Amino acid sequence: MKHTKVKDLLNSAPGLHEVKAKGWVRTFRNNQFIALNDGSTINNIQCVVDFANTPEETLKRITTGAAVCVVGTLAESQGAGQKVEIQVSKIEILGDSDPEKFPMQPKKHSLEFLRENAHLRIRTNAFGAIMRVRSTLAFAVHQYFQEKGFFYVNTPIITGSDAEGAGEMFKVTALPFDGTPRTEEGKVNYKEDFFGKETNLTVSGQLEGETYAMALGQIYTFGPTFRAENSNTSRHLAEFWMIEPEVAFNNLADNMDLAEDFIKYVIKYTVDKCGDDLKFLEQRLIEEEKSKPQADRSEMALLEKLSFVMDNNFKRVSYTEAIDILKNSKPNKNKKFQYPVDDWGVDLQSEHERFLVEKHFKCPVILFDYPANIKAFYMRLNEDGKTVRAMDILFPGIGEIVGGSQREERYDVLLEKMKALGIDEKELYWYLDTRRFGSAVHSGFGLGFERLVLFVTGMTNIRDVIPFPRTPQNAEF
Ligand code: 4AD
Ligand code: MG
Repeated sequence: MKHTKVKDLLNSAPGLHEVKAKGWVRTFRNNQFIALNDGSTINNIQCVVDFANTPEETLKRITTGAAVCVVGTLAESQGAGQKVEIQVSKIEILGDSDPEKFPMQPKKHSLEFLRENAHLRIRTNAFGAIMRVRSTLAFAVHQYFQEKGFFYVNTPIITGSDAEGAGEMFKVTALPFDGTPRTEEGKVNYKEDFFGKETNLTVSGQLEGETYAMALGQIYTFGPTFRAENSNTSRHLAEFWMIEPEVAFNNLADNMDLAEDFIKYVIKYTVDKCGDDLKFLEQRLIEEEKSKPQADRSEMALLEKLSFVMDNNFKRVSYTEAIDILKNSKPNKNKKFQYPVDDWGVDLQSEHERFLVEKHFKCPVILFDYPANIKAFYMRLNEDGKTVRAMDILFPGIGEIVGGSQREERYDVLLEKMKALGIDEKELYWYLDTRRFGSAVHSGFGLGFERLVLFVTGMTNIRDVIPFPRTPQNAEF
């Protein structure tokens, strides 16, 4: 007999026929009640062991973390909290778990301790819930774009270009460190390297994505991206997953509409599919926030916050308006910002973004038309000659979740910009070609997948929403 998933058993009506379940013991009470979980749902199934007729040896091996197989009948449960339970007639221990040594004890562990045990933390309720939500969100991303006629494009992970021009790249090389081949000038001779040129891990698939949008019309990427920025924050990873749609003939307003519609869709899809997990995570957050002062607690519970985002328009505000608001804000006047806002043109820090979203507008905000010199080279210059058609979406508790723009489609203007910034036009000839042959207005954005998972799960550290986080000084597992 094949075993049935716990999720399906919990949704079944009690009956006299035999059922089989396999999973890991969460707890074993009174030598009688096993709470069994197989990862299919946050809910455990209670398995009632006939301890009088079970060998003492076997009972001893039913410990937290052990893998077991139970056979029995699905009965109406007498206890509170569940409709059905398994009246066990046969139990087999598949894999023992020494209770003295298994780190995931049935008690509250700190998130830091769980990070150190990332290979086992997935056995806890919270991480099971987070990773099921993550999986559902990923599926929703594909479903949204596929329904809308976008094509999924796999852009290269190893590339020779620095899409963001920020220089925060991990080098990819097969050259030896000792006895590295040198040119006559003494520089590393990349001609002798694997690809015959300098390469790195991609920071974004955008530039390659644009070439595909200029042929397939509407495309999206969804893949890993890498940044060697040394920011040890709760919002940054060195390896993260990014979703990058790119659409021919879309202008900046179309781009904002797409991003807003997309985010609302994937949240709704996940709220509909992951009710039990989200209810658990909502409760977890309430418990966690009990230790914080009232003023630092969330104004809304998790599900209410998600509904709020789905039901309300994101506020669209130009950079220039935002600077005015910030300049005249209380924290700026009282010198509470670490970076005071005085002149137009300054880059916004996360303290400013959070003020706008959390204190001033109290809803998601789309900031657009940023100063050209604080944004990437490929953004469409506005008629004013000093701002570009960029947009960032800022979320409460997260800060920037999306960065995007209308792209500079004019060959001459783009070339001029690249020259001014010292970007090698020979290296990016293929990118410039899209502007030489059938150029057109087009736009796209990048959404940091882990920041979305953070928002939906109510977690506060990005290390807790990706299975094995990569951050400065940490590449364990
Ligand atoms: O704003 P970014 O750098 O934009 C780009 O890479 C563009 N090429 C996207 C595009 O237009 N196609 O990054 C996009 C998003 C950010 O808004 C943020 O959500 C996320 O990627 N992100 C990170 N997430 C986790 N860790 C990091 N170190 C991140 N850096 C950016
Ligand atoms: Mg950005």
